[in-house]
Amino acid sequence: MATSLFLLLGALSFIATIQGQDQSGFISIDCGLPENYSYVEKNTGINYISDANFIDSGVSKTVSPQDKATHQQYFTYLRSFPYGTRNCYRINNVTINTAYIIRTSFLYGNYDGLNKLPQFEVHVGTNLWDTLKFSDASVSIYRELSHSPTRDYVDICLVNIGTGTPFISAIELRILGKDNGPSSYSVARLKGLDLGSKNNSTCRYRDDIYGCIWEPYSVNGWRQLISTNIDPNPSQKMTYVPPASVMRTAATPRNARDSLDFSFQFDYVAQIHVRFYFAEVQKLSANESRSFNISVNGNYWEGPIVPTYNQTDFYIFYSTYFERISEYRFSLLPTEFSTLPPITNAIEIFLVKDFSQPQTQNDQADAMRNIKIAYKVSKNWQGDPCAPVAYKWDGLNCSSVGTLKITALNLSSSGLTGQIVSYISKLTDLESLDLSNNSLNGEIPDFLADLQSLKVLNLHNNNLTGQVPNALIQRSSEGVLSLRLGQNPNLLCESALCDQQTKDKSKKNNTVIYVLASISAILVLLLLVLAMINIIYIKKRKPKDYFKVHKEFSDQTGSQLESKRRRYSFNEVSNMTNNFERVIGRGGFGTVYYGIIDNIQVAVKMLSQSSVQGYQQFLAEVNILMRVHHRNLTSLIGYCNEETNIALIYEYMENGNLEEHLLEKNSRTRLFNWEERLTIAMDAAQGLEYLHNGCKPPIIHRDVKCTNILLNENFQAKMSDLGLSRSFPVDGGTHVTTVIAGTPGYLDPEYQVSNRLTEKSDVYSFGVVLLEIITGKPAIAKAVEGKIHISEWVKSMLAKGDVKCIVDTRLQGDFESSSVWRAVEIAMASVSNKSSKRPYMTDIVTELKECLAMELARKHNSCETMTMSLATESESSSLASSIMMFKTEMAGS
Ligand SMILES: *[C@@H]1O[C@H](CO)[C@@H](O)[C@H](O)[C@H]1NC(C)=O
Ligand SMILES: *[C@@H]1O[C@H](CO)[C@@H](O)[C@H](O)[C@H]1NC(C)=O
Ligand SMILES: *[C@@H]1O[C@H](CO)[C@@H](O)[C@H](O)[C@H]1NC(C)=O
Ligand SMILES: *[C@@H]1O[C@H](CO)[C@@H](O)[C@H](O)[C@H]1NC(C)=O
Ligand SMILES: *[C@@H]1O[C@H](CO)[C@@H](O)[C@H](O)[C@H]1NC(C)=O
Ligand SMILES: *[C@@H]1O[C@H](CO)[C@@H](O)[C@H](O)[C@H]1NC(C)=O
Ligand SMILES: *[C@@H]1O[C@H](CO)[C@@H](O)[C@H](O)[C@H]1NC(C)=O
Ligand SMILES: *[C@@H]1O[C@H](CO)[C@@H](O)[C@H](O)[C@H]1NC(C)=O
Ligand SMILES: *[C@@H]1O[C@H](CO)[C@@H](O)[C@H](O)[C@H]1NC(C)=O
Repeated sequence: MATSLFLLLGALSFIATIQGQDQSGFISIDCGLPENYSYVEKNTGINYISDANFIDSGVSKTVSPQDKATHQQYFTYLRSFPYGTRNCYRINNVTINTAYIIRTSFLYGNYDGLNKLPQFEVHVGTNLWDTLKFSDASVSIYRELSHSPTRDYVDICLVNIGTGTPFISAIELRILGKDNGPSSYSVARLKGLDLGSKNNSTCRYRDDIYGCIWEPYSVNGWRQLISTNIDPNPSQKMTYVPPASVMRTAATPRNARDSLDFSFQFDYVAQIHVRFYFAEVQKLSANESRSFNISVNGNYWEGPIVPTYNQTDFYIFYSTYFERISEYRFSLLPTEFSTLPPITNAIEIFLVKDFSQPQTQNDQADAMRNIKIAYKVSKNWQGDPCAPVAYKWDGLNCSSVGTLKITALNLSSSGLTGQIVSYISKLTDLESLDLSNNSLNGEIPDFLADLQSLKVLNLHNNNLTGQVPNALIQRSSEGVLSLRLGQNPNLLCESALCDQQTKDKSKKNNTVIYVLASISAILVLLLLVLAMINIIYIKKRKPKDYFKVHKEFSDQTGSQLESKRRRYSFNEVSNMTNNFERVIGRGGFGTVYYGIIDNIQVAVKMLSQSSVQGYQQFLAEVNILMRVHHRNLTSLIGYCNEETNIALIYEYMENGNLEEHLLEKNSRTRLFNWEERLTIAMDAAQGLEYLHNGCKPPIIHRDVKCTNILLNENFQAKMSDLGLSRSFPVDGGTHVTTVIAGTPGYLDPEYQVSNRLTEKSDVYSFGVVLLEIITGKPAIAKAVEGKIHISEWVKSMLAKGDVKCIVDTRLQGDFESSSVWRAVEIAMASVSNKSSKRPYMTDIVTELKECLAMELARKHNSCETMTMSLATESESSSLASSIMMFKTEMAGS
């Protein structure tokens, strides 16, 4: 009969008795403590400081005398936030990509005399951390989070959700060490269980340097094993160790053949990590043995595990995102040779928090903060400027996709004094800037004219002086900028603009609008006519009517492009390819030949003579290449369009396509290391990102695959073969296509069903490419039971927790695991069946940049990390070590 531990983890609260030792780099803030005050807490020796330098709102309060007497000192004061919806602490001075434990503590203590327990939210940056509910005014609660900041600050925000005034008692940050784990999510530590302990005290005074809480846990029917004389060493691969007092006790079932069962149930779908700690506490004699397997929800997970005497080992269970389950049942089952029952000394349960909410682009967020400080703005300007949308800063408008950018800033009638600050120049996406009705003085700075997107600039009714920059006047007279400068008595404004603006501004504005409107109307009409002509044209055209192709060509290219991208005769093409001597590739379009023009190597793509499809693709590609140019797209050098001979001439990509290098081994190919792989992935992603966001209308590539990623002599990657590409409308509409085009294995499953093409179809294909880059396996691999798609395979590996096996073994473990792990996450998100769950290319580029930064950081790092990964490599129990490699929470002290 198994005895089991059953925990309901839906809503947890703890009695906080937080202990620890002070260390440099640790930040301990007693919220509400008067400015400039600090003290050393008598039990822990930790130095607590006032929160005054970390926040500019809220009021300081104290708990009731009775609660003051029964709790630690940092609970005496608290900061309460009666005004504003979101109030944020800004913790400066944190280190990027370093794992921290962030602990927030709360004791209501009837500080407001209302005896009414509030309920509110805590956010970290733009992400919801938790909703706090109190059950007792005199019971403190805390939340612990393991988090790697992606910026050099952390915002901790208290959010009023209409159910009481938020408050906070203390904030503590503890450095865990260089981050070894994924940082696209953070984990909340729900519980630390000290099994087998009958000690009533949760207090781990100075034992646990991070001050983590270890709660004694014992269940009827379990036996307690204790060895008071051991001080379990961590095994080599461990960096965080629970305190010895926790490891000295263990729980075990009474009978040798019984299992030890735990189940954790949540009232929501939960992705969790569970760390099991083992240390043998008995000296076993020769005829005794203890070994056990662990199963999760009835399936084998890990084992056989044989705890070592006086040594701490651990295993981490990762549930994957894909499982979507809310109950976890763990069973420790004795193996058939075991003479002793299973044991566990300690368990930690972590809840994975999705911290992937978008935030304002870094430099723009910094600029906004500087503007706030410079003008002493006291609106709701706290935390991230643009996100979450509900708490966005007053007076701002932001773009809403991908990394958020500020498009409008309205500081009208805000009592601004001084000059127009240069931080505004960092808001490069600004379309509207309104600084009217303030007391700004000084000159109108030139940088305002450099804001390329600016359409509205209102400086009306200030005290500005000097000349108006010419560039602004010019843009205004061209009708691209609506400029208001009136009621600045000392402004020297020679053009009629100022007077006109002051006296007759409404009329002028109307004129501008009118002109703009008529221009757009004419443009729309023109486009419509063109589109109609085009439709008729294509419908009527016979495939071989090459004369018309040529005509269309000239129409579209215009003289400017004509001169840049040369047109060649068939004779010249024949010469440059030495009479079509060397074939370097074949595609749906036709054959590609090697050529030389003026000592420059080129690739000449000939349209196969019979190919009707080829003809249309040719047109598509010409259309696109004529208007796009990007370092990560193969560039067009020239073309030939002579009767039946149609060719496109590209820059020559010396190192062939990505697939050869990933899948083949020969003298031409090269085994890329992880940094190189990431660089290639990023190059390709940037090419696609440009097609999606840099082109108007956006372009869908439609055939993203490894063979279409070409590498030049420096192994710089470029997307090629835009032959299947189509532009798609910008108004959010999707494009219904009639022919399903693309390559099996890379085809968006949603598109296959719906025929609806969006940029997310490219994202899917790119996800597959990324998986190939990570695994070194083809999109569709042969498996024992027939063919298996790479995403299915990776999914199954993740489900088994078998993360190490995913990565191309030829890399021999030489990579930053957090970087790979993150890339896997991006790839898996990209291949989601539902397109709405896939990220945008912009997000992917951002993520890949961070992956690359992590990998580079490792390479330029101390030998500490190196030894660790070497040690890991030499481990024979690969699973345990792979888990170590992808561990997230407790890096070294
Ligand atoms: C805190 O210290 C700073 C610098 O010494 C001083 O300027 C400020 O007035 C002090 N604040 C209070 C409330 O004493
Ligand atoms: C950051 O930390 C350094 C050293 O610990 C300190 O001198 C500096 O004032 C801190 N800066 C801020 C903004 O807290
Ligand atoms: C632990 O607490 C329980 C009830 O709170 C009490 O009955 C028991 O005696 C305590 N045990 C020890 C060892 O203090
Ligand atoms: C109980 O906890 C105290 C305080 O941490 C510790 O000193 C003592 O060793 C613990 N006793 C046992 C049996 O674990
Ligand atoms: C356990 O290991 C520690 C070293 O980590 C050692 O000091 C201690 O004596 C060992 N205890 C026993 C009982 O072997
Ligand atoms: C193991 O050997 C000891 C003597 O060394 C003996 O007393 C004990 O019964 C044996 N246990 C088992 C399970 O065979
Ligand atoms: C424990 O796991 C090992 C290795 O997978 C397996 O061979 C053995 O049958 C398992 N034993 C039990 C009792 O599940
Ligand atoms: C900001 O967006 C809102 C809602 O879309 C719009 O009404 C407002 O005019 C915008 N403000 C500026 C300055 O563009
Ligand atoms: C405007 O600026 C001038 C100097 O540039 C100053 O003399 C004058 O007092 C200012 N007027 C107001 C209303 O601030």
